[in-house]
Amino acid sequence: MVGGATKVVGVIGDPIEHSLSPRMHNAAFENLGLDYIYLALRVLEKDLKNAVKGAKAFNLKGFNVTIPHKVSIIKFLDEIDLTARKIGAVNTVVNEDGKLLGYNTDGLGALEALREEGVDPEGKKIVVIGAGGASRAITFQLASICSKLLILNRTRIRAVKLAGELTNIGFEVEGRGLTLKSLESGLNDSNILINTSSVGMYPNVTESPVPKEFLRKDLVVFDIVYSPLETSLLRYARSVGAKSINGVGMLVNQGAVGFKMWTGYEAPRDIMRRAVIEGLLGRD
Ligand code: ATR
Repeated sequence: MVGGATKVVGVIGDPIEHSLSPRMHNAAFENLGLDYIYLALRVLEKDLKNAVKGAKAFNLKGFNVTIPHKVSIIKFLDEIDLTARKIGAVNTVVNEDGKLLGYNTDGLGALEALREEGVDPEGKKIVVIGAGGASRAITFQLASICSKLLILNRTRIRAVKLAGELTNIGFEVEGRGLTLKSLESGLNDSNILINTSSVGMYPNVTESPVPKEFLRKDLVVFDIVYSPLETSLLRYARSVGAKSINGVGMLVNQGAVGFKMWTGYEAPRDIMRRAVIEGLLGRD
């Protein structure tokens, strides 16, 4: 029960009412018997600065940050972790004795999502579709462990720019435009495909960023989209016998990393996963 000593965390964004994070974290707090509550807080762009001040004044233990504030919040925080700085976006804030520290847990969430499915990206050749915020978090995480990384994006220059940033810090990364030709040649020489673009996301559920004929049994296909749970891309992957991984694991694991930072406790990931899936199924 919420009481006088209940610690408050939450997520700020706009829109926020469809966020699955309150459901996921509150289920975890309840499961561990922790006196915490997680709220969805709608914050308009013009109010972000005041919202950050308010978070301090209310002594929130921390909060998640989502669209449209992941980049713009950086200038209002006290310190930004090196990885989040490189990515250029913050999704998790921790209040440490009144100082707000910004982190990005998306990349680690994606890596853990792969590993819990028995996929180790170490030494593998990876194709990543998309060059937006999610792609930046994932590619900065994976570039240091995979043997080869190819980033394909609709807007070619974004892929080239991101690949250049990664190359500059010593990784072997190539960026190209997303075309049938680049996809075909890229996938021919890869072990893992990761879709970080919004292609196939609800309501455009019939779309796929990759044609079925480019997929094969020995390719791992990871789509970070979780609504629908099985995108067209993942359905194609399943139909050719490829391993398919949906976006729930990344959502749960990025949340679990933040949960540990706020509470000091290991997050009950299975409870969180169940809460997310129930929320998604209830929505359809
Ligand atoms: P996020 O933070 O979720 O990554 P984002 O920064 O808006 O969101 O990035 C969205 C990604 O999906 C981008 O790589 C975008 O490609 P562009 O850079 O060309 O915009 C990609 N994307 C969105 N709609 C797409 C479509 N219809 N076809 C191909 N790529 C698409």
